[in-house]
Amino acid sequence: MIQIDAEDITQAVIDRLDECRDARFKQIMTALVTHAHAFVREIQPTEAEWIGAIEFLTATGKICDDKRQEFILLSDTLGISMLVVALNQLKGARAAGQGRLEATPASGSPTEATVQGPFYWENAPEMPLGADIGEGMPGEPAWYTGRVTDTAGQPIANCCMDVWSGDGDGIYDMQMGDDAGMRLRARFYTDADGQYRFWSIKPSFYPVPDDGPVGDMLRRMGRHPNRPGHIHMKVYKPGFQTLTTHLFVADSVYLDSDAVFGVRDSLIVPYTEHAPGRAPDGRELDRTWHSAHYDFRLAPAAA
Ligand code: BEZ
Ligand code: FE
Repeated sequence: MIQIDAEDITQAVIDRLDECRDARFKQIMTALVTHAHAFVREIQPTEAEWIGAIEFLTATGKICDDKRQEFILLSDTLGISMLVVALNQLKGARAAGQGRLEATPASGSPTEATVQGPFYWENAPEMPLGADIGEGMPGEPAWYTGRVTDTAGQPIANCCMDVWSGDGDGIYDMQMGDDAGMRLRARFYTDADGQYRFWSIKPSFYPVPDDGPVGDMLRRMGRHPNRPGHIHMKVYKPGFQTLTTHLFVADSVYLDSDAVFGVRDSLIVPYTEHAPGRAPDGRELDRTWHSAHYDFRLAPAAA
């Protein structure tokens, strides 16, 4: 029998993997074919709809360049990036002998991870503890403090904290034009007691880039493109699992409908508002400022 019909075609495609020598790739392609065929069987697309899907993916690829990655945005807005992050953090926790992740900081579990997003820029300037990375940028000043420890609560000294955020209007330096350079980002190193402190701004909510195919998709789905206010942190030191996460502003809009599904209850942080006056580091402020405190816990590197 040469002919392959709709009932047999899924198995026929899988059978053609017989000669595949890469076991992991074979597993991935078998699952891809199985689920993609089940999807097509479920939605029964017209040929015009299927061409529409291919045109959408083509447009998604065409808008990508070295500054814009529409496929990552697609993965983010469909919740796939966050699913990958959560599954890998769980796998890392298991490998380090910690069965599950819990949201309560007292539990001894590592700080929850969330999506990295497209605005990370390697080699941000190294700055001394207490420096201000938000000076001159739109937004109200915010004083960030806290400690980095292991899951047993022991301080991690000299731990790198790579920090980045948009400004008080939700604009990242990468969106400010070619000559803006690095703004609102820096690498800090914790002191001997694992403490960190720096000034930046209180971040605002902002829309993910929505002037491309993913924006069209969101509108057609009846969804908004916004993320709640947050500051990104990548916290790392050899011997520990790198933590890529955010702190979310507790009184921000969109906490309950983040366009990329990145919010974790354990990462929502109150920003305390202060009247103009003297800040804890002795600085005198002539305008409203905020303070936010958060302790990070890193899991040991997997053996
Ligand atoms: C961000 O938080 O920077 C971000 C994450 C996912 C998509 C777009 C932006
Ligand atoms: Fe962001």
